[in-house]
Amino acid sequence: MIVCKSKSEIEKMRRACLLVHDILQELREAVKPGITTAELDELAERRTREGGAKPAFKGYRGYPKVLCTSVNDEIVHGIPSARELKVGDIVGLDFGVIIDGYYGDSALTVPVGEISEPVSRLLQVTQESLELAIEQVHVGNRISDIGAVVQKHVEANGFSVVRDFVGHGIGTAMHEDPPVPNYGVPGRGPLLKEGMVIAIEPMVNEGTYQVKILDDQWTAVTADGRNSAHFEHTVAVTNNGPWVLSRP
Ligand code: MF3
Ligand code: CO
Repeated sequence: MIVCKSKSEIEKMRRACLLVHDILQELREAVKPGITTAELDELAERRTREGGAKPAFKGYRGYPKVLCTSVNDEIVHGIPSARELKVGDIVGLDFGVIIDGYYGDSALTVPVGEISEPVSRLLQVTQESLELAIEQVHVGNRISDIGAVVQKHVEANGFSVVRDFVGHGIGTAMHEDPPVPNYGVPGRGPLLKEGMVIAIEPMVNEGTYQVKILDDQWTAVTADGRNSAHFEHTVAVTNNGPWVLSRP
């Protein structure tokens, strides 16, 4: 069941999403060679409390941290640890909060120092695919129009789109209907209606789209060990087109 949100509900989601944005920007600036992913998590947790919010991920199905930090071949759901970031790494930062019962969810992938040209192209193409996806968020389009443009752009650039994880509706729960795949043909699935809010989150791999889950039962890695990137925004469907709640 897809729950459409009122203007005032979307305003609440906007507050959650803007805090997520601010914290992600601070984390992005904190990413340096030598910092551990646990230190990033601690910073995120502190800023969440200071912002009067609750972390969305901690305790979700037993997830132990407030932040997901996915390094290099890790696609999503990497658990912050004593691992030190080093020059040439990329790190996905995926973060969410709850304010007044409403969720915000966003992610970005950040280079650690200087990264190679092909990896920087992976980040750019993934980010572009999210922007193309957002452009599809118009009343009257269908959910699969989003995945179709993502897959087309990604594959035209020689990369692959992860199938095993998808975006999602979001509101008073982090994961609501509908699922929002990053692949497929256009013109299928639910119609976009005013008041729908979705988290669009392309996960793009250099090599195969196949994934493996590590023994921690959370970390999803590429089956071939090559790099992966992830960008995510929470987006509301309005009569004037997309409203990217997680960007000022
Ligand atoms: N952005 C991710 C998602 O939408 C965050 C979930 S991580 C979890 O699924 F730990 F909370 F599961
Ligand atoms: Co999400």
